[in-house]
Amino acid sequence: MTPVAVGELLDLEVERIAFGGEGVARHEGFVVFVPLVAPGERIRAQVREVRRTFARAELREVLAPSPDRRSAPCRHFGTCGGCQLQHLHHPAQLRTKVEFVQHALKRIGGIWWQREIPIRSAQEFGYRIRAQWQIAPRGPDQPPAIGFHRAGSREVCEVESCPILVPELNAGLARLRGMGAEHGLPRVLDMAAGAEGVATDPPLPGFAVEPITQGVGADTFGFAPQTFFQGNRVLLQELAAHAVGERAGYAALDLYAGVGLFTVPLARNHAQVTGVESDPHAVRIGRANLARNGCENATLRSARVEDALRSLLRAVAAGKAQPPDLVVLDPPRIGARAAMPLLAQLAAPRVHYVSCDPATMARDLRVLLGADYRLLDVTAFDLFPQTYHVETVARLALAAAE
Ligand SMILES: C[S@@+](CC[C@H](N)C(=O)[O-])C[C@H]1O[C@@H](n2cnc3c(N)ncnc32)[C@H](O)[C@@H]1O
Repeated sequence: MTPVAVGELLDLEVERIAFGGEGVARHEGFVVFVPLVAPGERIRAQVREVRRTFARAELREVLAPSPDRRSAPCRHFGTCGGCQLQHLHHPAQLRTKVEFVQHALKRIGGIWWQREIPIRSAQEFGYRIRAQWQIAPRGPDQPPAIGFHRAGSREVCEVESCPILVPELNAGLARLRGMGAEHGLPRVLDMAAGAEGVATDPPLPGFAVEPITQGVGADTFGFAPQTFFQGNRVLLQELAAHAVGERAGYAALDLYAGVGLFTVPLARNHAQVTGVESDPHAVRIGRANLARNGCENATLRSARVEDALRSLLRAVAAGKAQPPDLVVLDPPRIGARAAMPLLAQLAAPRVHYVSCDPATMARDLRVLLGADYRLLDVTAFDLFPQTYHVETVARLALAAAE
């Protein structure tokens, strides 16, 4: 028997915000998740779903608002699934994200990190250079609905503009809308903004041809709407500089390299750099990025990270190669579960783990911490203001190398 039932109205006190953006409250000890709330608030919420160990409820009334609450700047907030934290002032969003990282380290990684986790941030709107538009046809003579998924649904929430996007992408959206039904728009369209304009995947007439480019400090990176590239152009340089670090070395490995955002700066302070990336399209653009930025000492391998690590370990065992001084890894959201034991075995003196999911990062770090690595620092980057997402860089050193 659960102590709550669907439809029931509950008065609750919000404890914290969980990764994903929902508030966590308890009714008679039973966890109730409620979106659009702030820690410390007293709220009234209506239960809409009950599971064995938790329930989900909808906010009906804020009984005692938090000083962190604000009225959300975007009128689609709450309906659109893109943002979860617009109802919080930006400093409160930043605090919340640091808590996500602390919580994951402790609960998932078993890591009691007592030191501060600084969070680097910049402007909270107009930062995003990539968008994935959901497009739903309407009638034969009507323009399609274009927007993002509705919160908790696959339906399209039509938006006329989006405040987290750079202005060029909002102009791109207006142009898309102007193209109307006759162009046979796809159901999903990726769009990215670069120096040459806005490119789309699939390509559309009147838009830029990929790869488009983005400057990062003195370097220039080509990328495409359908290849991975960090979405926040304002923090790109700071993130790359921190992920790479200042230490010079002989060899560095850049795992999950994408189009080489970290491979290029690594090539500035290492004699040899190898990037590893499994998406052939990203590898093609990445190799051109190495050439365009004059990185003759760097190569980008088209391979899966697990396979590349296995072959490097064989070469090290045969005395034909040495472990690199530094490994930077930046896996996708699912983390690097299969690669972690191999990485631990490689025993590079330094490992910098860049992550967009604190939970999988904490799980993976545990493997390294169980293999004689220690954590040097943990830094968060607010690459995705207004959303629950947070980027983290954890830098580790092998105890024997200290
Ligand atoms: C989060 S992105 C990081 C890209 C790059 N470090 C950056 O910051 O632009 C992860 C990348 O890993 C690649 N990837 C995913 N699984 C992989 C695997 N098993 N082996 C190699 N690359 C993989 C994806 O194609 C993607 O480009």
